[in-house]
Amino acid sequence: MTAYLARVTICCIFAENISQLKTARYLQTLGSFRNYYRSMKEILVTAFGRLQMLHYPFYLKEDETFEERQQNLIDHCLSYIGDLKEKNLLEVGCGNGLNCHYIHTRYGAKSITGIDISKENLDIAKKHFENSNIRFIEDNAQELVHIPDRSVDVILSVESAFHYPDKNAFFRQIKRVLRPGGVFLIVDIVRFPGDTERYFWFWKKSKMMYHADETEYHQYSSGNNLVFKHKENLTDRIIRGYEGHISWISGQNRNLFNYMMLKLFTILQVRFNVAQLRSSKQYMLFYGGHGEA
Ligand SMILES: C[S@@+](CC[C@H](N)C(=O)[O-])C[C@H]1O[C@@H](n2cnc3c(N)ncnc32)[C@H](O)[C@@H]1O
Repeated sequence: MTAYLARVTICCIFAENISQLKTARYLQTLGSFRNYYRSMKEILVTAFGRLQMLHYPFYLKEDETFEERQQNLIDHCLSYIGDLKEKNLLEVGCGNGLNCHYIHTRYGAKSITGIDISKENLDIAKKHFENSNIRFIEDNAQELVHIPDRSVDVILSVESAFHYPDKNAFFRQIKRVLRPGGVFLIVDIVRFPGDTERYFWFWKKSKMMYHADETEYHQYSSGNNLVFKHKENLTDRIIRGYEGHISWISGQNRNLFNYMMLKLFTILQVRFNVAQLRSSKQYMLFYGGHGEA
């Protein structure tokens, strides 16, 4: 029996080394909030050879790469704002810092602050993208303890708010830190009206998923004397953003097994995201500012 187990173990180690498989990281994306981001970072770097933004792709035209479609989303958001040169921008839930870096390089805001609760994401952001115009701070969107009152011209939050259990507290902070005349842009995955999310609640909690619906968004906003100047349903553009995803993963410099695993993972992930957007969620943009004094 012992010899048999030893042989099995050796075979497993051999197989692992031969294929250089890190199969576990695919499964870990199903796990907790922390495991998800840790594994996704690795998978994205393996798939594309470098860091990627951590949000869905936004379709503009055919034959774009995943990276271009992610940048499209940021461009689309910032098209609401106009010139950023004299503005202080705060990204809430900045992830690995790529959005801040992209905004700095492409739009040159006066200063950019990225905050996030994930130390691991912030370590990457600081290591790669911190400079005299961009700083990254560990903070919670529901508290913003490091951001002074009325200090921010533009607040941007991309695909982060669905993680906040207390979104009203987030809106309270927006109200506090936003300068008079300042604006906020929130892109979030929201529930269809009436979708109660009663299924898989335990799993969703471990992944910190607390989707609000649009009505709740309006309540949080008006309850804190903020107004939406515009809201936009981006769902179709996001679903189309996944067009061509089959060709995003190249087989170059990969062994066949790893290539197949990566492809399979991508296809399943895309199917899952698209199915959610077709059945129970919408991808919304909320653009607003202070209400009447
Ligand atoms: C899907 S990622 C999006 C990252 C980035 N905005 C982007 O577009 O690439 C969501 C991010 O929100 C962060 N986050 C979740 N809850 C948070 C909270 N309460 N306060 C600040 N950041 C939070 C996560 O750690 C993660 O980095």
